[in-house]
Amino acid sequence: MDLSTNYLGLRLRTPLIAGAGPFSQTHDGVRRLEDAGASAVVMYSLFEEQLTLDHGQLLEFLAQGGSYADTVARFGGKRRINMSPIDYLEAINAASTAMEIPVIASLNGSPDLRWTHFGRLLEQAGASAIELNFYYVPTDELLDSTVLELRYVETLRAIRSQVNIPVALKLSPYFTNLTAAVRALSSAGADGFVLFNRYYQPDIDLDTLRVRPHLTPSTPHDIRLALRWISILQGRIPASYAATGGVHSSDDVLKLMMVGADAVQLCSAILRHGVEHIRTIESGLRIWLASRQKSSIADIKGQLSQAKSPNPSAFERAQYMKTLESYEPDISVPAVSSDSTS
Ligand SMILES: Cc1cc2nc3c(=O)[nH]c(=O)nc-3n(C[C@H](O)[C@H](O)[C@H](O)COP(=O)(O)O)c2cc1C
Repeated sequence: MDLSTNYLGLRLRTPLIAGAGPFSQTHDGVRRLEDAGASAVVMYSLFEEQLTLDHGQLLEFLAQGGSYADTVARFGGKRRINMSPIDYLEAINAASTAMEIPVIASLNGSPDLRWTHFGRLLEQAGASAIELNFYYVPTDELLDSTVLELRYVETLRAIRSQVNIPVALKLSPYFTNLTAAVRALSSAGADGFVLFNRYYQPDIDLDTLRVRPHLTPSTPHDIRLALRWISILQGRIPASYAATGGVHSSDDVLKLMMVGADAVQLCSAILRHGVEHIRTIESGLRIWLASRQKSSIADIKGQLSQAKSPNPSAFERAQYMKTLESYEPDISVPAVSSDSTS
């Protein structure tokens, strides 16, 4: 059974990538992901704040063209914050040297040119690709969305111009016209898209009356956002597409591959079930494909993308009314909760 796939120009043994998360924070963690069957690993992110807050001199040095070796030699001793950019480079270097699977570096920040010089060092350290995570919550009511999108494009271009390895963008779904934004970013050199970034929403603690960050693992329902958008984008804008968010089982992977994903990224599923779950998902893929007499996962890829779907409107507004009409209330669940005061 051939489960191989091409993602960002990288030949992967299976579509099952370990997404950015806590497991890659140690070298042993990366090794365990590889041993458990991950076909590539996205390292935990290096955050813009780690590059800009305490590392003005480092950024200046990079802007002047400092290489990986020079940078480690000059700044290696200065570890002033918990995880320094140098630690990150060394982690990438160690992982990419020791592992056979591609190691993808992750840069996480707002669209801003100040931290883009670092891309070059990630390539020199041995990263097979860079995943650029634009995690940005715009709150400036005077910032026009086209201006903001141009900043995304410029930030990508700045990194793209410095590296020869593929660059993927991990985006949020909050664009007025996602298709147009993806087209602009693809034209500016993005090799692929990771859909979607999960924005963690704050919550209120009613005991302490404080706002607190709230990180909940995803559920399989969450894949539907990527399912819709990969299906729509895949036939329109040629690029690699990886799904992230809610991929927990082989069924989820099959659905995403059917709409045209090249790969999926696993995070919550590994946190919940352990790294061995990667192998369980792989077995599930093999069993399902064999039951349909398919010899490779490529045989099902894209067969239900919007362009090929017998019901293309299912992915757009036209299906909205039908979906609402098809709702049947579950009579076993009380319509009004007992503590409702309204
Ligand atoms: C504990 C935790 C740490 C994460 N760290 C990162 C990170 O460093 N960089 C990043 O781009 N995404 C990070 N993510 C997001 C995941 O890579 C992934 O996109 C998201 O959790 C949705 O996928 P999932 O449903 O498989 O969890 C993290 C998620 C969790 C739960």
